[in-house]
Amino acid sequence: MRFQATLALLASLSLSSLASTVADVEADLQNIATQTTTLDNAINAFPNTGGSLLNALAIHNDAVNLGSAIDKGTSDVNGAPKPFSEADGTTVLQAVQAIEPTILDTLTVIVQKKAAFQGLPIGGIPALVLQDLQNLNASTFKFEAALISAAPTDLIPTATTIESAINSAFATAIAAYSS
Ligand SMILES: *[C@@H]1O[C@H](CO)[C@@H](O)[C@H](O)[C@H]1NC(C)=O
Repeated sequence: MRFQATLALLASLSLSSLASTVADVEADLQNIATQTTTLDNAINAFPNTGGSLLNALAIHNDAVNLGSAIDKGTSDVNGAPKPFSEADGTTVLQAVQAIEPTILDTLTVIVQKKAAFQGLPIGGIPALVLQDLQNLNASTFKFEAALISAAPTDLIPTATTIESAINSAFATAIAAYSS
């Protein structure tokens, strides 16, 4: 029993000290890019009238998957050695810059689709979209803070500019679904 308890303790210690690397963060950003594109495509494809509940629920699913991908990114940034080197920081920043337009498009088009979601024969979808937006906003806030805390000093202004643009797009979309 004692021996097993010691083993369990050792296992949990080694798990909790497992560090991540910048390569993990780059892989996470790849995944976030893929999931963002999937979500953006699904939202753009949702028809302005006559959309199906199935497609609306698929959008919800895509949003949940994106949230998990972002949360994994946050925990890997938090587990990686900081600050990132200049080269790594630049690679990470460029990956984020590459995703930014898709995030902004998603948040713009979701607002344009509110009437389409309201028009579905089953209610509750706009409320579900609002909840997804709030969850994604919260996950994104944490990821942004983690990335900025890891960024080399000279890259922080650019990172902060991206952060502001994304946060303000979230605020606009959340406001549209809150009224
Ligand atoms: C987005 O999330 C952050 C952190 O949880 C929160 O402070 C902010 O108010 C949220 N934005 C909106 C528009 O709800």
